[in-house]
Amino acid sequence: MSKTKLKTYFECTACGARQPKWMGRCPDCGGWSTVEEVRLAPVAEAAERWVARGEYGSPVPMTEIEGGSELRFSSSIEELDRVLGGGIVEGSAVLVGGDPGIGKSTLLLQMLLELGKRGMKVLYVSGEESARQIRMRADRLGGAVAEVLVLSEIDVDAILAILEKDRPSAVVIDSVQTIVSAGISGAPGTVSQVREVSARLVGWAKGRGLPLFLVGHVTKDGSLAGPRVLEHMVDTVLYFEGDKGHPFRILRAVKNRFGSTNEVGVFEMGEGGLRGVLNPSSLFIAERPEGASGSAVVPCLEGTRVLLVEIQALVAPQTFGTAQRTVSGVERSRVQILSALLDRRLGLSLCGQDIFVSVAGGLEVSEPAGDLGLVAAILSSYTNRPLPQDAVFFGEVGLAGEVRGVSRAEDRVREALKLGFKKMILPARQSKELSKSPAAKGAELHPIGNLDELMDLLA
Ligand code: TYD
Ligand code: MG
Repeated sequence: MSKTKLKTYFECTACGARQPKWMGRCPDCGGWSTVEEVRLAPVAEAAERWVARGEYGSPVPMTEIEGGSELRFSSSIEELDRVLGGGIVEGSAVLVGGDPGIGKSTLLLQMLLELGKRGMKVLYVSGEESARQIRMRADRLGGAVAEVLVLSEIDVDAILAILEKDRPSAVVIDSVQTIVSAGISGAPGTVSQVREVSARLVGWAKGRGLPLFLVGHVTKDGSLAGPRVLEHMVDTVLYFEGDKGHPFRILRAVKNRFGSTNEVGVFEMGEGGLRGVLNPSSLFIAERPEGASGSAVVPCLEGTRVLLVEIQALVAPQTFGTAQRTVSGVERSRVQILSALLDRRLGLSLCGQDIFVSVAGGLEVSEPAGDLGLVAAILSSYTNRPLPQDAVFFGEVGLAGEVRGVSRAEDRVREALKLGFKKMILPARQSKELSKSPAAKGAELHPIGNLDELMDLLA
């Protein structure tokens, strides 16, 4: 290929899919005006640059590679360690995604401050905030630490040069969408920039065996801007989620080469930064009203943990032409299906009623085990009769109105008992199994086979 001829291609800035020509709408992700032309450096030139940087390796016999398990060290933040699979892995690249303002910078700066206090020299690179802003944040988080180096820079070459010179023990890049590589066309944050910048940073970190944390912003549809390509490049992808109106934050692993993706960490955002929540259940149900109808407690799985959450429902005569189903924290279609079931199977007339459902604390209940609690909350609001204060509900409701078993029933019962709940309203089959289990000692098991039985129990 000629050295001077430049090749171009078209790429979607939202999903990274390549297209043969420019188009107004990306056929892969459906985004409008997201396809952009990207200039590709000629292969020979790219290879030369690569070689010049010394970023190439040579094959080694497998037997000469050091084995054993990965080397880890604690981040000093228990909830973060758990989600990472037991601490920070040397030479790993971790992507932390989440909505703006959710607390990504706070979490990672807090981690660096803790590492710094332990005498580790660490580096915080910010392309978004000035060094002074970071200092002010550190003061808020308990004071600046000399071992934490701060760099306000957006040029990846400058960052790599400093990394090479200083060799910190851990690096945070906040955020990868603000960093640019001079060799690539396009503004910061475009797919080609994000990919190049990440590839070089990740490559460097792996070569030197030090952990790298990349912060990534999330687009409004919930995917990482500058996108799946990034998720493939890193070892671990963590999402930081939560409702900004509430102090709770959940850190979730969606990909982890060094641990389980079922782990979640729960934090509370306060004046002095993020604090790990050791007993999240008690927190999520702390403000539950007493003796109010429409409130049901459900033991839900969040990763490997069981959390007790409160589902609230309000059923009221409809105010507009069509009945509303306004929900937050649960799937709207679930509410529609379950209310139709209540109509058909129990003869309620919900079709002329507005139904509002929300999950307290800004949490989300996405597993089918929440069905029974949802039905109970709706029933309770409809009949205006509060549910027993010390009852929890779990079970999946099928289209015939039958109540089906769910996973980890024993753990759900155990968590409910721990928080003082005695009455377990659960699928009939699992009630039978649990009646013999020592885990259910002290629990009142109320087996439910179908919705009629639930109605009878609550009457
Ligand atoms: P931030 O970490 O800047 O979010 P991100 O990097 O994900 O965009 O968090 C900003 C929010 O957190 C902001 O609304 C202020 C709040 N906050 C606190 O409530 N307490 C604190 O101690 C800090 C540092 C921030
Ligand atoms: Mg930030």
